[in-house]
Amino acid sequence: MALLRVQALEVAYGELTVLRDVSLEVAAGEVVAIVGSNGAGKTTLLKTIAGLLRPHRGQILYDGRRIDGWPAHRLVRLGIAYVPAERELFPQMTVRENLELGAYLHPQHTAERLAFVFDLFPRLGERQRQLAGTLSGGEQQMLAIGRGLMSRPAVLLLDEPSTGLAPLLVAEMYRKLQQLKEEGLTLLLAEQQVPMALSLAERAYVLESGRIRLQGQAQALLEEPAIKKAYLGVADRLTD
Ligand SMILES: Nc1ncnc2c1ncn2[C@@H]1O[C@H](COP(=O)(O)OP(=O)(O)OP(=O)(O)O)[C@@H](O)[C@H]1O
Ligand SMILES: [Mg+2]
Repeated sequence: MALLRVQALEVAYGELTVLRDVSLEVAAGEVVAIVGSNGAGKTTLLKTIAGLLRPHRGQILYDGRRIDGWPAHRLVRLGIAYVPAERELFPQMTVRENLELGAYLHPQHTAERLAFVFDLFPRLGERQRQLAGTLSGGEQQMLAIGRGLMSRPAVLLLDEPSTGLAPLLVAEMYRKLQQLKEEGLTLLLAEQQVPMALSLAERAYVLESGRIRLQGQAQALLEEPAIKKAYLGVADRLTD
């Protein structure tokens, strides 16, 4: 049974419908990517699952239970953590304080979770007393993911972890995500960096103008001519 299931979701901003008939599922322990270009609706989809937007139609189920319309904090308690692309850190607070906020629902687990996050991202451990606003872009992304992990999620919804990072840092970030995958964390990842996302994910959905256009095994999608043409053009030119 799917851990997370989205059925025929429709989401609008006022009069503007941006997701139509979106259905997807994520099994426990699976890494699933949502790929698509600017404005496709990836962030809208993750925000809706995270309880930050209300769908107009459709259902979201977690472990068989309807959760659409639930407030975000209740979803965090249930085990769903969302890491926004904009990171949304508190710049005037330290690295450690930002992380501690991520564990506010389970303060008794703070020490154990800090150890987990510092083990994954040793850099954050070294800089735990530094103000978050003074971190580099890569370190801020680590902190945003670390804060998401502080709530002991079963599912991490991760929006564009590659945003604003140089290619080497993107690769480093993806190695950390691979590590989380190997530890059994369920990941739903939105990305414009299609080859990178498809190499991490087991399955993927291609979102275009608010609809799922293609879906399947990530490896098969990487070979799909339509995907190559639309999303892998640059990589193709580099390797030809
Ligand atoms: N708060 C908002 N109010 C009105 N329209 C919005 C709002 N947020 C997003 N949209 C619109 O919804 C559509 C989908 O946006 P969304 O941010 O979900 O796309 P995305 O796939 O995440 O894009 P990107 O890759 O650039 O992050 C876009 O046309 C966008 O302009
Ligand atoms: Mg987005």
